[in-house]
Amino acid sequence: MVDADFKTDFPSETVKEGKVKAVVPKLKAFVKQPSDYAPSKAPVFYNPVMELNRDISVLAFQAHQRIVNKEISICEPLTGSGIRGVRFAAEIHRVKKVVISDISERAVKLAKYNARLNELQDRVTVQHKDARCLLSCHGAPRKRFDIVDVDPFGSPVPYLDSAIRALRNNGLLAVTATDLAPLCGVHSKACVRKYGGKPLRTEYCHELAVRLLAGCIATVTAKHDIGIRVVFSHCTAHYVRVYVAIGYGAKKADGSVKNLGYMLHCFNCFHRETTRNPFDQRIEKCPECSSKMDYAGPLWLEKIFDKRFCELMAKENAHIAFRNSGKITKLLALAKEEAEAPATYYVLDKISDKLALPVPSVDAMLQILCDSGFQAFPTHFNSRGIRTEAPALTVQKLLQKLVAAA
Ligand SMILES: C[S@@+](CC[C@H](N)C(=O)[O-])C[C@H]1O[C@@H](n2cnc3c(N)ncnc32)[C@H](O)[C@@H]1O
Ligand SMILES: [Zn+2]
Repeated sequence: MVDADFKTDFPSETVKEGKVKAVVPKLKAFVKQPSDYAPSKAPVFYNPVMELNRDISVLAFQAHQRIVNKEISICEPLTGSGIRGVRFAAEIHRVKKVVISDISERAVKLAKYNARLNELQDRVTVQHKDARCLLSCHGAPRKRFDIVDVDPFGSPVPYLDSAIRALRNNGLLAVTATDLAPLCGVHSKACVRKYGGKPLRTEYCHELAVRLLAGCIATVTAKHDIGIRVVFSHCTAHYVRVYVAIGYGAKKADGSVKNLGYMLHCFNCFHRETTRNPFDQRIEKCPECSSKMDYAGPLWLEKIFDKRFCELMAKENAHIAFRNSGKITKLLALAKEEAEAPATYYVLDKISDKLALPVPSVDAMLQILCDSGFQAFPTHFNSRGIRTEAPALTVQKLLQKLVAAA
């Protein structure tokens, strides 16, 4: 039964998201000046902008449930208002248990209320623990979860080790990182310190952010003789999110470690290439323009989307009416194509800027690349981005040709 006397000791309101109702802080009440970031000013964290992130999580976890084809358990150890975990119990088929937790007492009270408000108290357990402590308590074989969702403030790195230990074989780890300044190379030292890889401020730095995070996850899991496959990832304005399927076994772990390496990048002509050799001398001379190149990494060089996983998510999305369904349809269609496309993308504005030419349309550029015998795909990371195996100087020449013909 819902506790009729329940009252928050701060301004709050009831919102609807997905299939649930939730009491959340009334954000407007916590904004004192225009620069205030309301979600973190409120006594309990709630960010309406992350609805898309939560919707996509519902789809990804449902896709995972369809793959394993059994009842599943989910842990969300940094839950805030509880809206995410409550949604998992309400919206994903065959979820037998969701354990949510927060270090803040007020958050725990609110999350408990939100579970009861949706009559899900039998399947949603709310704990008041440090995330690492909760996850470590679930490290023993029969206590592990099928899915762990790590959605913290900033970097998820402090939680990775305990999250991995709390996952059973063939489980799924979902991780959000909002610290894009380190991951995109604005604070390079912080990225090396936290993620163990050097970032690079390139036009495709958001993809590098995903690859640095995935590389860090692969390194942490390998220590436990666990291998990973990145089944889905995406980036929006202020965060990256990575979905990783894990598999127990030293061979699988060795396989993932082999997928770590470096991205070499030429800031003069935009050429880029991958290498697994940390002492690769090709960095000294760009094969396209002979300039000295820079590098990012170690990072994850393998796929960052799985085509079949994207298709399963799209299938779920087709019969759910989220507020964000349209956006998600577009994102999944792009990701499905990107799954098979070359790593990294060129950004047309950047090339046009260098050549002092007008920016052509993405469609026209995709067409001219295809007509010239190259694969070419758009990317969800950047609406002006193109993935292609065409060499950097060829991309430049084709852009010049296109502009000249216009
Ligand atoms: C970004 S918010 C979570 C948002 C939530 N996942 C959602 O989708 O609405 C991060 C939460 O982590 C909690 N937190 C911070 N450090 C923690 C820790 N060490 N253990 C557990 N919770 C923690 C904060 O109180 C906050 O509620
Ligand atoms: Zn070059």
